[in-house]
Amino acid sequence: MYKNLFIIVALGRNNEIGRENSLLTHLPRDMKRFKLLTLDTTVIMGENTYHSLQVKPLPKRRNIVLSFDPTHRFPDCEMAYSIDEALTLALKDDRVFVIGGASVYRQFLPLVSRLYLTKINAAFDEADAFFPDIDFSQWNLQEEEVCSADEKHRYDYSFCIYDRIQLSEK
Ligand SMILES: NC(=O)c1ccc[n+]([C@@H]2O[C@H](COP(=O)([O-])OP(=O)(O)OC[C@H]3O[C@@H](n4cnc5c(N)ncnc54)[C@H](OP(=O)(O)O)[C@@H]3O)[C@@H](O)[C@H]2O)c1
Repeated sequence: MYKNLFIIVALGRNNEIGRENSLLTHLPRDMKRFKLLTLDTTVIMGENTYHSLQVKPLPKRRNIVLSFDPTHRFPDCEMAYSIDEALTLALKDDRVFVIGGASVYRQFLPLVSRLYLTKINAAFDEADAFFPDIDFSQWNLQEEEVCSADEKHRYDYSFCIYDRIQLSEK
């Protein structure tokens, strides 16, 4: 586990995170929070998530993109061709956010110390990308902010922060 390595994700009731390489719903407050938390940090993402970004690379952040293909390169991004390479590039930085997508979350979940989850209170039958199962017995809820649907947010949602329980705390 790396103390400075975090996951940030918005997920539905069944861990749904995307469909056809896009997000499932637009939650402006979540977007704003994502920006606030990740500005001036390092972000790690898979190539599909990179392609899904409307503005790329993400401004004012160090962008690291994972691809298995060593010929793939993207402007103003650093490339990593393995998880180890991404970790070597990133881990000297103060705060490093893994920002998706499904395959990258799956590989990093065992390594991160903190989860920034936006839990969307809805099920998305059409989803084709999912966050891995979380064993919540391994995580302490540190903060929770419950938010109601409104004209800009179709569903209720909550911002939750979980820290991994250290062996010494068990
Ligand atoms: N809800 C959210 O918060 C959230 C956030 C981000 C993304 N998403 C959603 O997640 C979905 C995309 O997820 P995804 O699983 O299809 O794609 P992804 O994880 O973004 O990217 C997968 C690609 O990353 C590269 N990659 C993955 N592991 C690697 C490794 N160990 N070493 C080198 N390269 C590696 C490979 O690229 P190559 O094919 O180039 O080899 C792989 O095909 C989309 O629907 C997106 O909208 C949701």
